[in-house]
Amino acid sequence: MPDKILIIDDEDELLLALARYFKRLGISVHTATSALEGWRHIDETMYDLVISDLAMPGMSGLELLEKVRAVDHLTPFIVMTGVGTIETAVEAIKHGAYHYIAKPFKTQELELLARRAIEHGKLHRKLASVSQQSATDHPSEMILGTNRSVKEVMHTIAKISQSTASVLIQGETGTGKSMFARHIHESSERRPQPFYTIDCGALTENLLESELFGHVKGAFTGAICAKRGLLEEAQGGTIFLDEIGELTLSTQVKLLRAIQELEIKPVGGNKPVKIDVRFISATSRDLNIEIKEQRFRKDLYFRLTVIPLKLPPLRERKEDLLLFINYFVHKLGARYCKRITEIAPCALTVLMESPWRGNIRELENVLERAVLLANGPTITVDTLFSQPEERFENEEDRTPVPLKDAVELAEKQAIRQALLIAAGNRTKAAQYLGIGRRTLYDKMDAYSMNE
Ligand SMILES: Nc1ncnc2c1ncn2[C@@H]1O[C@H](COP(=O)(O)OP(=O)(O)OP(=O)(O)O)[C@@H](O)[C@H]1O
Ligand SMILES: [Mg+2]
Repeated sequence: MPDKILIIDDEDELLLALARYFKRLGISVHTATSALEGWRHIDETMYDLVISDLAMPGMSGLELLEKVRAVDHLTPFIVMTGVGTIETAVEAIKHGAYHYIAKPFKTQELELLARRAIEHGKLHRKLASVSQQSATDHPSEMILGTNRSVKEVMHTIAKISQSTASVLIQGETGTGKSMFARHIHESSERRPQPFYTIDCGALTENLLESELFGHVKGAFTGAICAKRGLLEEAQGGTIFLDEIGELTLSTQVKLLRAIQELEIKPVGGNKPVKIDVRFISATSRDLNIEIKEQRFRKDLYFRLTVIPLKLPPLRERKEDLLLFINYFVHKLGARYCKRITEIAPCALTVLMESPWRGNIRELENVLERAVLLANGPTITVDTLFSQPEERFENEEDRTPVPLKDAVELAEKQAIRQALLIAAGNRTKAAQYLGIGRRTLYDKMDAYSMNE
């Protein structure tokens, strides 16, 4: 369906010219020569955008905007202003207009603005509908996702819920591996039994082995009493081996033996103990490479990977972004007792366009900060970036910085400003900065402005 816009102006000539221009772009255009006539159209038809003159005989554009906003928050509204009415334009923005454009203007300029407004309007409508759904559909701590591969993962989990087959979850950091591991346990019949997580990358080899297998009294300095290993403690339940790719080869051998024989020997002891655990492991490394480079045992890999699951990075599940944004804003708003009802158009664009290398966790962190910093019900773009150099903006706190850092700080600020003015559109921001899009990406990468 073509986009539908309504243009209102008492100047016939301009009205016709604009209508012709937008029709040629394949947009469906309705026109009105007074605000009242425009209002009648709006009452009957749902538009993707309303463009209206401000000063008109009878009802003004501003009055029309107020009337529309009383019943509809979502249809974007662009006001056209004559000379000397900039104050009214600002007033219009305060009353919920998307933007204003000062007459005379180039039609291409209005087109650019209109396209952006239509896109934002659609995003907001979608966000509003997702918001209604999620208020009813999702209890707290819900696994969200409409992405196909995530749905497949959910299907597989449902299918294997009654088995004890070992599962390996692969995915970049922050894609939900830990969350899914727990979900697998919760949807299995082992649910009433313990679920233990052990981070294989966080402990030294000795400590890790003692955690997993336990130790006997006096096994090593400091082992003043015997300790049962988690594999034994988790009897009947599930053990989640996080960052399995970090295991040393020697621990891999011991773990392999434990899985094959379903028994373990505590460190320093030789009496085997029977175990009954389900193994779930996760890794953000590519284990095939680890195997090729002989850092990971193939036989252990096969034992751990009866069911392989792969979680896609957030950039490959853009269709879920709005869902997550809405979910986190609600969840965090509730946590910090803040009523956030809106995300500014610029901010939403920035959120939609970020590469999210830290995936869902990064998104959650950015939104947490934004919710905390929000001064009212709206999340604005300036709360989305982390600004460690903020303190330099206050003259009194200004501390001398090495020259090379000064350049970085200045560049970062210029980039941020350009992104702000370009409403998050990087191609445009690069144009403002007078550099190529690629260079902008590289700089943002180098300055960790995507994190
Ligand atoms: N499908 C989802 N629905 C809702 N929240 C999710 C989903 N997936 C992940 N999250 C949330 O995103 C955050 C990161 O998820 P999680 O800690 O499970 O990722 P991870 O892959 O284990 O990360 P890491 O590799 O750093 O351990 C958590 O707060 C989690 O609750
Ligand atoms: Mg994790």
